[in-house]
Amino acid sequence: MLPCVCVLLLAASTLGLHVDEAARDAQWEQWKLTHRREYNGLDEEGIRRAIWEKNMRMIEAHNEEAALGIHSYELGMNHLGDMTSEEVVDKMTGLQVPLNRDRSFTMAMDDKLERLPKSIDYRRKGMVTPVKNQGSCGSCWAFSSAGALEGQLAKKTGQLVDLSPQNLVDCVKENDGCGGGYMTKAFEYVEENGGIDSEVAYPYVGEDEPCRYNSSGMAAQCKGYKEIPEGNERALAVALFKVGPISVGIDATQSTFQFYQKGVYYDPNCNKEDINHAVLAVGYGVTPKGKKYWIVKNSWSESWGNKGYILMARNRGNLCGIANLASYPIM
Ligand SMILES: *[C@@H]1O[C@H](CO)[C@@H](O)[C@H](O)[C@H]1NC(C)=O
Repeated sequence: MLPCVCVLLLAASTLGLHVDEAARDAQWEQWKLTHRREYNGLDEEGIRRAIWEKNMRMIEAHNEEAALGIHSYELGMNHLGDMTSEEVVDKMTGLQVPLNRDRSFTMAMDDKLERLPKSIDYRRKGMVTPVKNQGSCGSCWAFSSAGALEGQLAKKTGQLVDLSPQNLVDCVKENDGCGGGYMTKAFEYVEENGGIDSEVAYPYVGEDEPCRYNSSGMAAQCKGYKEIPEGNERALAVALFKVGPISVGIDATQSTFQFYQKGVYYDPNCNKEDINHAVLAVGYGVTPKGKKYWIVKNSWSESWGNKGYILMARNRGNLCGIANLASYPIM
């Protein structure tokens, strides 16, 4: 009896494994097709496939836990599927805090309690342009800065205009273009330069190029900037309410961030002392179940996250350092 059972079990498990692998193969082929991936030979493909499969398993395990109520958010495979989280941070972030950061431009906080609305969403007020894709260039800081300027421009003129991150990548000498940069340096540049070109006048290429700012394409100006008192989530909410979309820095190294899809993001491993990515806070709110969140616009295309956006836990210990390096331009 015994050997027979063993053979049966073995056969069943081999069969199971086989079906699994065939399904994985099909998923992999479909993923490559969807994201138009081609690799240099089987070695390269093997490496990428292994990374993709590891990511798939992580996503599936997370979502099984989410279905049990262990997590407040779900993950999903996307165009970053064949990259490790280290590669994503290397290629697609780029926030660098300058050593000579001038802290004198910090927003004054009114101590008397400001009455804040329960929720704000500047996308509904026509103050947020479509989601962009920074590509393999550490220009997150330029997209974050352009987004904050776009918000102020819309607030001031009623016109929603895409501004030029490439203008900032090429021309902000105090930053390092695709090598990284900081948002307040971009605001300073726009102030000193007398303006920033529109995206139409100075289109994005995603590489470092010589500065070719042309005032005939200028679409916005700014008179300086303010920073949010460091680490103060309440101050960030006040700034969102009083000002508009705010440039923020976050830690984007977690693979849960890489594959976020929906719900309120909360990963206790997110490190507020290791901020490497610049994004744009465009509002805040609370779910029917009472989970508070920030509405955050990323620059990894609409294929990432929830149509390019992520809801990040609010008032949960300054998650990912979202209130640490927040700033906005004065227009
Ligand atoms: C700036 O743009 C205008 C209008 O397109 C053009 O006539 C001019 O030559 C440009 N200037 C430079 C320095 O490229």
